[in-house]
Amino acid sequence: MTQARQHSIQVVAHRGASEDAPEHTLAAYRKAIEDGADALECDVRLTADGHLVCVHDRRVNRTSNGRGAVSALELADLAALDFGSWKDAAESPDWKDPSLTSVLTLERLLELVADAGRRVELAIETKHPTRWAGQVEERLLQLLGRFGLSAPASPTDSAVRVMSFSARSLSRISAAAPTLPTVYLMQFMTPRMRDGRLPAGARIAGPGIRIVRNHPSYVAKLHRAGHPVHVWTVNEPEDVELCARLGVEAIITNRPKQVLTQLGRL
Ligand code: G3P
Ligand code: CA
Repeated sequence: MTQARQHSIQVVAHRGASEDAPEHTLAAYRKAIEDGADALECDVRLTADGHLVCVHDRRVNRTSNGRGAVSALELADLAALDFGSWKDAAESPDWKDPSLTSVLTLERLLELVADAGRRVELAIETKHPTRWAGQVEERLLQLLGRFGLSAPASPTDSAVRVMSFSARSLSRISAAAPTLPTVYLMQFMTPRMRDGRLPAGARIAGPGIRIVRNHPSYVAKLHRAGHPVHVWTVNEPEDVELCARLGVEAIITNRPKQVLTQLGRL
């Protein structure tokens, strides 16, 4: 392991400690905080009645006992669903406890982070923001404003960052909240990306691990262009090793405890 950089890598729990607990639930985020994660990743979507909830898929079918699109359901409909039992409940009775496995609002997650007793950062991903013509970003900034998180003194001071595959979503955020850091997520390497520049409004680069594996020199290119690099979703020890060797700033993982252990932090 590359000793010089390993302590500076931030370990971000992807959807919470989502290998051990049902993703995007209070159970998964509590576990991630207990495990020592530096930050928590979550995806946010708008419900039919305008609440931001932490759900990855467009529909609730995979991760709950309900059916339908989040955007067509109201918060009360989602609150009646069980987001824990799809994960093997034999491993933990907590996943049957509705107080830990009902739908998680972003507001509740912000409260959890505020009460963590130590600094825990949040990496919030806007999902399908184009569908809502700016409403996701507007609601997100309103909510962050209520928690005093929408206008950090500088991007490097911020405990929250906004991530998206949509450059448009990030440009809306950076126009309305210029000091809030933004992460441009990339799934594939495209010719436009090769010079290491990001779309306007994006400060941090968020390449998928496959990009990093196939184009390791891209990390240095991004660094030369002035962009910190946050890589997702890094679960395998050899990928953690690669990211550490390349000097990335953050590793987003379903296995925060395992990565912290590998980095010599536990
Ligand atoms: O952290 C970025 C990563 O979460 C993007 O992919 O599909 O897991 O939201 P996805
Ligand atoms: Ca995500």
